[in-house]
Amino acid sequence: MLKMNKMTVRDIEVGGKRVLVRVDFNIPLDKEARIITDDSRIQATLPTIKYLIDQGARVILCSHLGRPRGEVVEKLRLAIVGQRLSQILGHHDVVVTRDCIGSEVKKAIEKLRDGDVLLLENIRFHPEEEENDASFAQALAQLADLYVNDAFGAVHRTHASIVGITDYLPAVAGLLVERELKVLKDILTNPAHPFAGLIGGAKVSDKISVLENILDKVDCLLIGGDMASTLLKAKSYEVGLSVVEEDKLDFAVKLMEDAAREGVRFLLPVDVVVADGLSAEAKAKTVAIENISPHLRIVDIGRQTIRNFQEELRRCKTIFWNGPMGIYEIPQFAQGTQAMARLLASLDATTAIGGGSTAEIVIEMGLADKMTFVSTGGGASLRFLGSRTLPGVEALLDKRS
Ligand code: 3PG
Ligand code: MG
Repeated sequence: MLKMNKMTVRDIEVGGKRVLVRVDFNIPLDKEARIITDDSRIQATLPTIKYLIDQGARVILCSHLGRPRGEVVEKLRLAIVGQRLSQILGHHDVVVTRDCIGSEVKKAIEKLRDGDVLLLENIRFHPEEEENDASFAQALAQLADLYVNDAFGAVHRTHASIVGITDYLPAVAGLLVERELKVLKDILTNPAHPFAGLIGGAKVSDKISVLENILDKVDCLLIGGDMASTLLKAKSYEVGLSVVEEDKLDFAVKLMEDAAREGVRFLLPVDVVVADGLSAEAKAKTVAIENISPHLRIVDIGRQTIRNFQEELRRCKTIFWNGPMGIYEIPQFAQGTQAMARLLASLDATTAIGGGSTAEIVIEMGLADKMTFVSTGGGASLRFLGSRTLPGVEALLDKRS
């Protein structure tokens, strides 16, 4: 289990100091990259940014946006994020630099006064970031006196601005990282029962460690999405052209046996929507899982399955949800996913949404504030719930006991 007793920004003196804060401003943009379609990752870092401003720190924000693969990509510049952050902070104008290291950046930082905020250009414009290059990490570290990691969505990455930099600066957690870890840990260690895991998405292989780790904690597991095809195949159903991970069939069989032994109720789809392709025009119909044609593929859970899942989840006091129930990007295959989102939003239970696409769906449907908690980290929250280490957290200073 992860060490949780990490120092946070509240445990150190920050007034008058240059504080480099790694944030995750990897936010969704429209196709032309002119409009921010969801700013919740910016909003989520405000407690840390405002705390630092109030304490009189000189705040140097650093983030990635997208996957530019070590080159400058105009559409992935952070200027648009800086503008939004300036709007949100009101009187604080956020300076955005044209690079994240170098003499220009140093000059801009020298001009900062206590309480000012500056945003460095997309850190992934440098290939050294993802290589966790030591000299690059050192060049970044030279910009500041202290380092804060508040990029929960990226703490599973061993990158220079997440891990390498902590060799050169005192490094502590931001308030978002602290909160995410606390909520997720509480869910794992102290859930109100019955506790359900609602797991979907593309691949069993992405979810193996989570499924293994939560199996002895949950009372029921409900599985949808493409990954259900592998489980159905493991139970010898014909799944047609659905995506099956042949090398995970043994794991699937063992998982279901372990669930039975642990007394965990295991719900798979009993009916599914099948289609002849993955487009809005594809012909689709709902069939029982015994009747899947070899020429069709599963694209969503069926109506009876939705009812079964609803009935099971209504009995639960804690629900963790990660992964869509079908190919939700195509509206006609989004019914199962949307039904689950609406149900969770209506329940008087602790509902925690893993980040990534599940969070995006809930936010897009306007239901985020009806959930107990929506994580800002997809890969990171899955890794945490799978009891695997988060390098960006491990690297931070331990609390003195
Ligand atoms: C995310 O959106 O998953 C995080 O910002 C991490 O981004 P990455 O998956 O490109 O490393
Ligand atoms: Mg990702």
